[in-house]
Amino acid sequence: MTLTDTAAVPVERAASARTVLMCRPDHFTVSYRINPWMHPANPTDTSLAVQQWETLRSAYVDLGFDVQLVDPIAGLPDMVYAANGGFVLDGIAYGARFTHPERAPEGPAYMDWFERAGYAVHVPEEINEGEGDFLLAGEVILAGSGFRSSTASQAELARVFGREVVGLELVNPSYYHLDTALAVLDPEPAPGAEPTIAYLPSAFSEASQGVLRERFPNAIIVTEADAAVLGLNCFSDGRTVVVASRALGYARQLRERGYETIDVDLSELLLGGGGVKCCTLELRR
Ligand code: ARG
Repeated sequence: MTLTDTAAVPVERAASARTVLMCRPDHFTVSYRINPWMHPANPTDTSLAVQQWETLRSAYVDLGFDVQLVDPIAGLPDMVYAANGGFVLDGIAYGARFTHPERAPEGPAYMDWFERAGYAVHVPEEINEGEGDFLLAGEVILAGSGFRSSTASQAELARVFGREVVGLELVNPSYYHLDTALAVLDPEPAPGAEPTIAYLPSAFSEASQGVLRERFPNAIIVTEADAAVLGLNCFSDGRTVVVASRALGYARQLRERGYETIDVDLSELLLGGGGVKCCTLELRR
């Protein structure tokens, strides 16, 4: 290790309490195709999906998270991907407005839950898929576009939360949501400190790669192989990262940076094109 390798020096990471919303995949299957991962002709095993999802939920409970549940609805097989249900910050829930008609009813279903849980709900005007495309990184919100959430939703997001929104353009259909191509690992970085992020550069346009390099010079650069098992679709409390069990290289990179890792196998949910983070919507009061 050279002296300039400061980013690789293990540091003591601190966890902060997390509250998350999840949806049990009781009705999970793949009956339509809205991303390249989905093959409706191939069989799915709903009970295995539930079993794997329960492992993720227990991992969160063991980490001390407050895990809230929204009731699954028959006929909405993708509702398990709670991250797409909205974006919640400062007690405000910005609802989702889905790109594809198959998922459209999930928007109001999640907004009902937010309402009942006491969040101030902002009914969206623009197409957006919630935390699938919006990730809080310190003070700013990173916002993906290209396949699902519209660029117009970025202005709406900035208005609703009064935060700077940094638009990032996705270019690879396999990484159609921002949370499949980029992970924020420090949910509450020290004021002014650069939050640690990890990403797959080739998932972004040249211009957006430039933005990421400039804003996050110490980011973890993830390999195509680890991204292809949705390794980046992970969830971190600042100390422990819950990550796909097949993303071995990425898990090693995380440990080199001082994070602990817990691996979970969500192979069944991968058939719908989602992983750990997709099943997790963060709730921030
Ligand atoms: N089948 C779902 C879709 O294509 C998967 C959503 C994954 N969620 C996520 N946050 N990336 O919409």
